[in-house]
Amino acid sequence: MASTPAPTVRENIPAAAPGTLGVYGLTTRFRMVAHTVHAVDDLSFQVTPGETLAIVGESGSGKSVSMLSVMRLLDGRNVKMSGSVSFFDRTGAACDLMTADERTLSRIRGGDLAMIFQDASASLNPLFSVGDQIAETVQLHRGNDRKAAWAEAVELLRQVGIAAPEQRAHDYPHQLSGGMRQRAMIAIALAGEPLLLIADEPTTALDVTIQAQILDLLKELQRERGLAIILVTHDLGVVADFADRVLVMYAGQLVEQGEANAVLSAPRHPYTASLLACLPDPAGEAPVAYRRAKPGIVPAISDEFEGCRFRARCPLAEPRCENHVPLAETGSNWQSRCLFWREVSS
Ligand SMILES: Nc1ncnc2c1ncn2[C@@H]1O[C@H](COP(=O)(O)OP(=O)(O)OP(=O)(O)O)[C@@H](O)[C@H]1O
Ligand code: SF4
Ligand SMILES: [Mg+2]
Repeated sequence: MASTPAPTVRENIPAAAPGTLGVYGLTTRFRMVAHTVHAVDDLSFQVTPGETLAIVGESGSGKSVSMLSVMRLLDGRNVKMSGSVSFFDRTGAACDLMTADERTLSRIRGGDLAMIFQDASASLNPLFSVGDQIAETVQLHRGNDRKAAWAEAVELLRQVGIAAPEQRAHDYPHQLSGGMRQRAMIAIALAGEPLLLIADEPTTALDVTIQAQILDLLKELQRERGLAIILVTHDLGVVADFADRVLVMYAGQLVEQGEANAVLSAPRHPYTASLLACLPDPAGEAPVAYRRAKPGIVPAISDEFEGCRFRARCPLAEPRCENHVPLAETGSNWQSRCLFWREVSS
């Protein structure tokens, strides 16, 4: 039997419970022919067992690239990553995923650390039934025999809300609807009994009832097993219902991070405030009284870009915002990348 490869241990990582993730100064760039895309810039955050961290931000803000970087799933000669990503596996050993070798990554990914991808259709193998794909993960990470792994695959399909799972397990991905494929992906992610689950827009393709069922299932697993969850979403309603903490990204940077209820009630960054301004208030139809962002899209950040990345759309922008804006500690575990954070909710 092959021996388990030793994890890459960083001596400066303090001890933490299995499932804890610490991301420090993560930076990901794509070198293109004429320019460099600064997709993720100096991102730091932690997630602990039993906790849900929501990551929000509009399209192109760097949410998926951050998560794919954490999983070390970006490849290509034009990708340049730096920073460190510590993960404490089931044995309590710390591993820096940024420097870990492929054997260590294969052991951890799909097992202690799993990801539900934004594009379910591209993530399933069209040549194997969904039951086979789930059973394979069960066998690989739990060591069950084939029959037990198949029974577990059927049970996982049942848990994610697929009717007649004994029959559907024999279906190939193209025989399932988009929503069913998404649920099959979730079953694969759960098959290795992860300690930390990264879910990148896991319920976008699903109708509201199924979305609620899936989120309830994740909550139940979290209660039972102390699962840590990173939930990437556009839906601030989901953040309010589901997350303990929220991290807001804009143009590749963390712009605000804090306890979810506190951030959603009185944001300390104009971008978070503008996201909230687009929502009806929880009690009725009136919009929340924050100023919306000026029209525009997330800017592509190149080497020459300086100053606050949100300034072209910010209702509070001033000339000072054209200089570098650092991340400010605005309270206990609450950060904002705004020079005028005190004025956002006042
Ligand atoms: N392989 C790549 N090569 C070059 N640029 C890329 C690559 N992948 C992503 N990008 C760029 O990186 C930036 C961040 O993309 P990312 O997919 O992380 O956004 P996102 O926040 O997940 O958006 P969405 O909400 O639409 O999923 C975008 O400008 C995107 O065009
Ligand atoms: S630093 Fe200036 S431009 Fe940036 S978010 Fe704050 S007020 Fe707006
Ligand atoms: Mg994405």
